[in-house]
Amino acid sequence: MEIIRTVAELRTKLNEAREKGSIGLVPTMGALHEGHLSLIQRARKENDTVVVSVFVNPTQFNNPTDLVTYPRTEEADVALLEKAGVDYAFIPTVEEIYPEPDTRVFELGPVAEVMEGAMRPGHFNGVAQIVSKLFDFTRPTRAYFGEKDFQQIAVIRRMVELEGFDLEIVDCPIKREADGLAMSSRNVRLTPEQRAIAPAIHRTLESSVCWAKDHTVEQTKRYVIDELNSMPQMQVEYYEIVDALTMQPISDWDQTKQAVGCVTVFCGDVRLIDNIKYPMKK
Ligand code: PAF
Repeated sequence: MEIIRTVAELRTKLNEAREKGSIGLVPTMGALHEGHLSLIQRARKENDTVVVSVFVNPTQFNNPTDLVTYPRTEEADVALLEKAGVDYAFIPTVEEIYPEPDTRVFELGPVAEVMEGAMRPGHFNGVAQIVSKLFDFTRPTRAYFGEKDFQQIAVIRRMVELEGFDLEIVDCPIKREADGLAMSSRNVRLTPEQRAIAPAIHRTLESSVCWAKDHTVEQTKRYVIDELNSMPQMQVEYYEIVDALTMQPISDWDQTKQAVGCVTVFCGDVRLIDNIKYPMKK
């Protein structure tokens, strides 16, 4: 595996690779875990060349403390990438990516206005900035994203449409710990007590699937919010049941072909997100 620090070198190497076949890109912010590795394994299977970017993107953090406390574990990340059979690890500095401030504002529309978009102003524009730069630098055949950040995938698809990138977005299922907690780089910040409580998020979402069979959308939302808020240290920021494509909240199960419940919960001061698909009546 080669570690690449500059955009110029990345472009040169990938221009050569493109001549030989397909390129799979896995964008990450590092602090790699098995969730990332599952994306990399899939990219490895489906492409001739695999490039993983490791970059904590400042423009997508609307909370300065979150940016400072975001885990940075480059040495361990490099070892994992090497073992996973990655061809190129792109690990640039902030100055390399943003030699000058990125002032682009993307017309992301309704998919970016709800949930994370409403709670974290500017977050999705920052995601669109960095992902569009990465797509431009690498011009991948396919790019891989985890469904834990379900809304992010919809936003990236919209950015791809706006910018006219010719590539395939591959969404990959959430990878979970044995007790159901969605894998996340933020999990390392949980205290042992919080770590023991956190699997309740997935458990509650799962039990809401059964509850939803004979309850309305509103009642199902109430059920999830009340269950989670009744647990020590847990505070739901939002729970929305939305259409899987448009991200718009639904008020009736019949309003969508695929309903997805998206939750953000503070467990102490750690912000965790998760989601679940509701099986639809045919
Ligand atoms: O999901 C993430 O880790 C980030 O939002 C991404 C896509 C790597 C962009 O910085």
